[in-house]
Amino acid sequence: MYSEKVIDHFTNPRNVGEIANPSGVGEVGNAQCGDIMRVYLQIEDDVITDVKFKTFGCASAIASSSMATEMIKGKTVAEALELTNKAVANALDGLPPVKMHCSLLAEQAVKAAIKQYYDNNGIAYDTALFAKLGDDAHEHGDLVEE
Ligand code: FES
Repeated sequence: MYSEKVIDHFTNPRNVGEIANPSGVGEVGNAQCGDIMRVYLQIEDDVITDVKFKTFGCASAIASSSMATEMIKGKTVAEALELTNKAVANALDGLPPVKMHCSLLAEQAVKAAIKQYYDNNGIAYDTALFAKLGDDAHEHGDLVEE
């Protein structure tokens, strides 16, 4: 059911923890499964120099956030904003269809942390970038599983 990469990132997750005085923190949840994901970003000169996550989530959520944090570390904020849950799932050699929403938690927590970074620093942005972070995004029915 799970790829070797999913099992690897679940049993040995990268970047677990918190960052003191982070540039941005994002927390999102899924109302149906009740899982919560929190991502901390350290950003210097527009580059993500450190990233950590904490989750009350399932194995797929842990593996997805571990992979997502690896994928955005060292990237610019703009590059991190382009991270999709599908890219995370692909990097994990796939997730079962019923577990795709778990990878969306990782994508959304990264986006929420970047939004807080923008807000904290008075950086203007297109609100459409973060449209899916509203309450509706917490419902399974609103999540895209292609
Ligand atoms: Fe909720 Fe995986 S079942 S995040």
